[in-house]
Formats: sequence, structure tokens, C-alpha cells
Amino acid sequence: MLEGRELSKNEVRRRLENARNRCPEKTSQLGKTLFELGDELNLDIPSSCGRNGECHECVVEIANGIQALNERSDSESFLKEPYRLACQARVVAEQPLVFSPLRRRPKILAAGMKKDNLLLEPMVTRREDRVYYGEKDIDHYRGRLLGIAVDLGTTTIVAELIDLESGQSIERVSFENPQKFGGSDVMHRISYDGGEHRGELTKSLIKGT
Ligand code: FES
Repeated sequence: MLEGRELSKNEVRRRLENARNRCPEKTSQLGKTLFELGDELNLDIPSSCGRNGECHECVVEIANGIQALNERSDSESFLKEPYRLACQARVVAEQPLVFSPLRRRPKILAAGMKKDNLLLEPMVTRREDRVYYGEKDIDHYRGRLLGIAVDLGTTTIVAELIDLESGQSIERVSFENPQKFGGSDVMHRISYDGGEHRGELTKSLIKGT
């Protein structure tokens, strides 16, 4: 229980749905990690290390109540406020706490640009039953040529799977850039990557995607 009273099933369902879509707002739970609290709220916090501080995938942003958490562990030395690893941050004081995972649920973009006058010039092309990368023969034709276009934005990453022969979009996904903990703009991220935690940003991106 988050507020010391019985909640109806509908109320619990409504709160979980809110937690999925917005920063969860809740009362601290002494002794629990943010990962455990995230479990209670059904938050999708990534992990591939068994929650022991090794994978660095479970970064959460603390919007309120960071003073209610324990000291940073060594495995969080690459993070600055207001970011913590959900598996390492433990509640040590009763205080309203607001946190959210950096990587939120993917959002499908509803519409792209008009492609009527777009000239298709992919590096990978088909000639008869052969496939070329530029002038280099690289494979036999397998029935389809596909490419992925990636827009790596500081806030959002968009990837689109494209039929290279017709220019048709087959699938398109977007999600929040998990490098946010290194700063909100490119200059801060370059600076972060030039410091003692070099490589953490790239690592978070590869694991996050
Ligand atoms: S779950 Fe791997 S570092 Fe937190």
C-alpha cells in the first residue's frame, strides 16, 4: 500500500496506468529500492545484471525527494543529480518521492514527411539478381532490400525500416534518448564523455536500443 488505506481495484488500475505514462508520484517506502517501488507501480525499468549495479541500464530521474535516498554507491559514480540507479537507490527517509525511468515506452510516430518528390539514392542497390554496395558486389538478391534510417536526437531517437527499392516505410519507432543523464544538449554530452566516465553514453545507447 502506498498511502496506508485500502484502494479499490479500479483505483489501483488507474494509478498503475498513470505511472506508465507519467512520472510516478508516490509516498516513500523505507528500506525499498526504487527498482522495488517501480515494480509496485508496474514501471518498465530496464536491467540486464540482476539488479546488482553492473549494467547501468536502470537509470532513473528523481524529480522530487532525492534527499530521502541513501548515499550513492560506487557503481553510480558516473551519474550526477538528479539521476540514480534504481537498483542502488534505497529509501531511507519518509518523504514524498517522484521518479521516472529514462527510457519510456516507445511511441510510434503518426506521420512522416511527404515523399512524392524524394529522390531515392540508396548505397545498396539491386542489379539483376545481385546486390551492390556502391560498385561492390556484396550478395545475391533475397527478394527484398531493406535499410534502417536513424535520427539520433538528443531528446528522442527515431528509427525507420525502409524498403530501399520502393522507398516505402515498413515500420517506424521512437523512444527517449537514454543518454539524458549526460546532459540535456550535445555540448554537455561531449563534455561528459571527455571526462572520467568516457564510454558510458555509448554504452547506454547500445544497451538501450
Ligand atoms: S539493474 Fe543493472 S545497474 Fe541497476
